[in-house]
Amino acid sequence: MKRIFLLIMAFVFASVFMAKADEGMWPPHLLTPQNLKEMQALGCKLTPEQIFSFNQSSIKDAIVQFGGGCTAEVVSAEGLLFTNHHCGYGQIQSHSTPEHDYLTDGFWAYSKEEELPNPGLTVSLLVQIEDVTEILLNGVTDEMTQEEREEKIEDNYEKYVEQAEENNENDHLIDVKAFYHGNQFMRFDYIVYKDVRLVGTPPSSIGKFGGDTDNWEWPRQTGDFSIFRVYTAPDGSPAEYAEDNIPLKPKHFLPVSIKGVEDGDFAMILGYPGSTDRYSASENIKNLITVYEPSIVECRSVKLKQYQKHMEADNEVNIKYASKQAGVSNYWKYCIGQIQQLKQNKVVERRQALEKEFDTWVKADKSRKEMYGTVLDDFKTAYDTLNRYTKAMIYHGEAGLRGSEALSLAVAFSIAAERVDDPAQQDKLQEMLPKLQARADNYFKNYDVDLDKDVSIAMLNLFYKEIPAEMRPEMMNEIGKRDKGDFTKFVNNAFKSSIFASQEKMNKWIEKPTSLKKDPFLQMGRSMMESRRILSEKVEPSYTLMAKANRLFMKGLMEMNRDASFYPDANFTMRLTYGSVEPYYPKDAVFYSYESTLKGVMEKEIPGDYEFDVPEKLKELYEKTDYGSYADKNGRMIVNFLTTNDITGGNSGSPVINGDGHLIGLAFDGNWEAMSGDIAFEKELQRTICVDARYVLFIIDKYANAQNLIEELKIVK
Ligand code: ARG
Repeated sequence: MKRIFLLIMAFVFASVFMAKADEGMWPPHLLTPQNLKEMQALGCKLTPEQIFSFNQSSIKDAIVQFGGGCTAEVVSAEGLLFTNHHCGYGQIQSHSTPEHDYLTDGFWAYSKEEELPNPGLTVSLLVQIEDVTEILLNGVTDEMTQEEREEKIEDNYEKYVEQAEENNENDHLIDVKAFYHGNQFMRFDYIVYKDVRLVGTPPSSIGKFGGDTDNWEWPRQTGDFSIFRVYTAPDGSPAEYAEDNIPLKPKHFLPVSIKGVEDGDFAMILGYPGSTDRYSASENIKNLITVYEPSIVECRSVKLKQYQKHMEADNEVNIKYASKQAGVSNYWKYCIGQIQQLKQNKVVERRQALEKEFDTWVKADKSRKEMYGTVLDDFKTAYDTLNRYTKAMIYHGEAGLRGSEALSLAVAFSIAAERVDDPAQQDKLQEMLPKLQARADNYFKNYDVDLDKDVSIAMLNLFYKEIPAEMRPEMMNEIGKRDKGDFTKFVNNAFKSSIFASQEKMNKWIEKPTSLKKDPFLQMGRSMMESRRILSEKVEPSYTLMAKANRLFMKGLMEMNRDASFYPDANFTMRLTYGSVEPYYPKDAVFYSYESTLKGVMEKEIPGDYEFDVPEKLKELYEKTDYGSYADKNGRMIVNFLTTNDITGGNSGSPVINGDGHLIGLAFDGNWEAMSGDIAFEKELQRTICVDARYVLFIIDKYANAQNLIEELKIVK
């Protein structure tokens, strides 16, 4: 009996997209009996209801979206949250000054009074899911063109959301998301908590140990965690920051296990993966490898060089730009890795093989031909155009509208600038000013004129050099021609006169707005928006064609593999991935253990280095092997470990949970050899890098002496 079952399973598993145990970011409310069987076989002792339920408290009640791009988990009855250091980085940075440099020194609240509020930071808890496919596809037919289809869906969506908002008594956040490339639509309701305070963070020399050099790589020894707390109004409802707010009383929080992990142990992760493209066409992947990602790498390399120059020279600049630099650099290295590994792992070739299979399947049947007959050609047609414009589009973003900061700010002021010149719009302008003031204040808080000057020159020069005249902004062409492609003079003059490069001038302007027609950054920004608009018009039909091809390719694949269960691409909705703790072979004859230790930190130490410096206190604890109850059974301090879980960006900070539902670590990164993983999961190579819960507790307890926090946790020994 069992044998036959296994054989059938092996057959089904052979299909390209059928998930293997580790692969798959599953919507937790849609776990199949097959998923559950696999989870049990791997060591999970939980029932589906214990993991995910809207009727009873479950693990899901401890998992939240943290800000707009990370995950966090509730770990105490008083709303204490664990997330990654790199997720809290922006907040840690925002509280840092040369005098209170929490980036360098860490920060610990030894009482609730010392916790630091973070305006703008929110934490969202999922409270309801509904399939709204029928509502959104109401009136949509196969005969419609893609434009007609999109219009109809948009129309349905607007009506639906309007009504939903009317009935939204609890003021939940309503979020409707497309699944399976627009074949399915789901509604998610969240409670949004707005008072989230910083409770603790290790210094960067622990939380970001290894820096950009070790980022995206294993072996790793990073204490990538930070601690926050959610507050609510006294009645438990979400509220903006207020002194008499109280700590959140969660429906569920995760106990923390310090039993430790071993090779083969069950591990699952619940969290919010941001975006994947697991069912994309080979043409899309070719575009990524040949133009899209190389363009991003080019622009960011130039930018990072300027950042480095200025950040190294001045600690104040270093603090101001720490978070910006981390963001630019993280995706820069991501792109380098993805290009490399898409090639190494032959992802284009594998996808082409699948397309061939698809093609044969389509051609075997008349109705399939009608439905899917043009899909593969549509991809080709779309990318014929897209490949020509991708580089210019990327440059408009990376080197243009988000290149120079002064220029970005100018673009954000463009509506206000229009209103200044229109006597009929003065009231509206006045209404905007407080928001613009807040934006400008925020901007100048982390701004350095000299750095931005150099970045602006470098980015504009690069843009001019790399992009052909017909795709460049008109104003850029004029100045480039006049000054032989060197924007130094333009930028220097612009910095002298523009309100966007001086807080003083900006404040004066907000007090008494005058025409900005002559502001050079606004002029350049407008010219750039215009050239981008022209480009967008050119690529728009290709995007539409691609959307259609993507939707039908997805639909066809599912039809072609009727017995397989397909997990949808990540879209920052809650997902569950299960697998186990496992080592790997990064390349022939090289074996990587699944765990790293504090010894590795000491081995990598480079005193005074911004990436590999080790704090004195940590060295002392290591020398004395003062690990308390957090050592492993061999007396070692485990720092990071690996699992076979399937995650991506957005999952950062997600809890790694054992078979008993206890926290064993926090997911924080992926490994270099599987940087292609967002496009195709690599069964043999792909690993999630986790910070061990024991290291987190060790740092809180022994390094920071924050026993107040340890006492709050439910520790399982
Ligand atoms: N690669 C990680 C992610 O995208 C971020 C790690 C941050 N650490 C760093 N050294 N930049 O989730």
